[in-house]
Amino acid sequence: MTVARIDRLRDGSTVRVGSACGKLILLGEHAVVYGAPALAVGIDRGVRAEATSCGDDGPSHLRVPAWNIAVDDRVMDNDLARAFSALIKAVRSDGRAWRPQTVELRADLPPGGGLGCSAAMGVAITRAIDPGADEGAIQQYAMEWERVFHGNPSGVDAAVAARGGCVFYRKSDGLEPVRMRGVLRLCVGDSGRPSSTKVMVDSVARLRVERPRLVAEAFDGVRTLVQTAREAIETGDTPALGRLMDQNQVLLGRLGVSTDEIERMCLLSRSAGALGGKLTGAGGGGCVVALVSSTRIAEQVLSVWRSVGYRGFATSVAVETRSRTWETEAAP
Ligand code: PMV
Repeated sequence: MTVARIDRLRDGSTVRVGSACGKLILLGEHAVVYGAPALAVGIDRGVRAEATSCGDDGPSHLRVPAWNIAVDDRVMDNDLARAFSALIKAVRSDGRAWRPQTVELRADLPPGGGLGCSAAMGVAITRAIDPGADEGAIQQYAMEWERVFHGNPSGVDAAVAARGGCVFYRKSDGLEPVRMRGVLRLCVGDSGRPSSTKVMVDSVARLRVERPRLVAEAFDGVRTLVQTAREAIETGDTPALGRLMDQNQVLLGRLGVSTDEIERMCLLSRSAGALGGKLTGAGGGGCVVALVSSTRIAEQVLSVWRSVGYRGFATSVAVETRSRTWETEAAP
């Protein structure tokens, strides 16, 4: 995947393009905030940012035309503007060369859908405004952006948005690429109900105070499931991976982050032949991920969801993607 590109225009100016992928958490969401590992994959949908320099005096502008949003880094009256400003501050405080920029974003991820849209935005913007930043710096700047939206992000979204592939992530150690054996075929279904990661993370934090034992047992269970699921991916045992995803969904239900719609979508996917299914991301709405054994079953799952009004798409994960930066000459 080409993740950063500099197009040099005929008039000598440049457009810097950065992109980042969305993600699916296969197992481990919420527990990962408290130090447990999670397994996640980058998907072939994401965010693209285009940056051009504007006047030396600033401000910098961020636009998302499809969402009818335009903010600048000086009028901080909403989260997007605050996040943009925090990201720019982080880039500048690292002593990197800086000129005010106009950044335009295009996202093919649903916001609030659990597919890592906000982290992908943070990574894509960083790549566009600072094409020389290395992977560590990109994640660090994107985390400043993420903190505005999520308060206490584990970092898994930003790490996967920056790197892609299939990863084992732990807050304390960062990510390790997982050696995949074979292809993972996945269906993603949108419950149509956006949710706030911050609200859901806060609700688990409250439950942890009110019912510490229940939450500790659920997190312990998740820890074991994630370790076993990693082995299943490494040995290509997809039926086992499907069962482990189902078990993770039960634990997420105990943490109070599932909904009737999510449960229904999981049941429907299994009735259509999926190997397993669960919510992905923060829950409380958002998306469901179902593991399938073939493109035929994927079509069946998408069709049963569609028949009751849920939209979805199929994706597959085979080999890890790596960052690449290049420069083009005299693009039109
Ligand atoms: O809803 P998303 O795509 O932002 O995923 C959130 C995942 C959590 O584990 C719930 C939070 C986190 O920071 O890891």
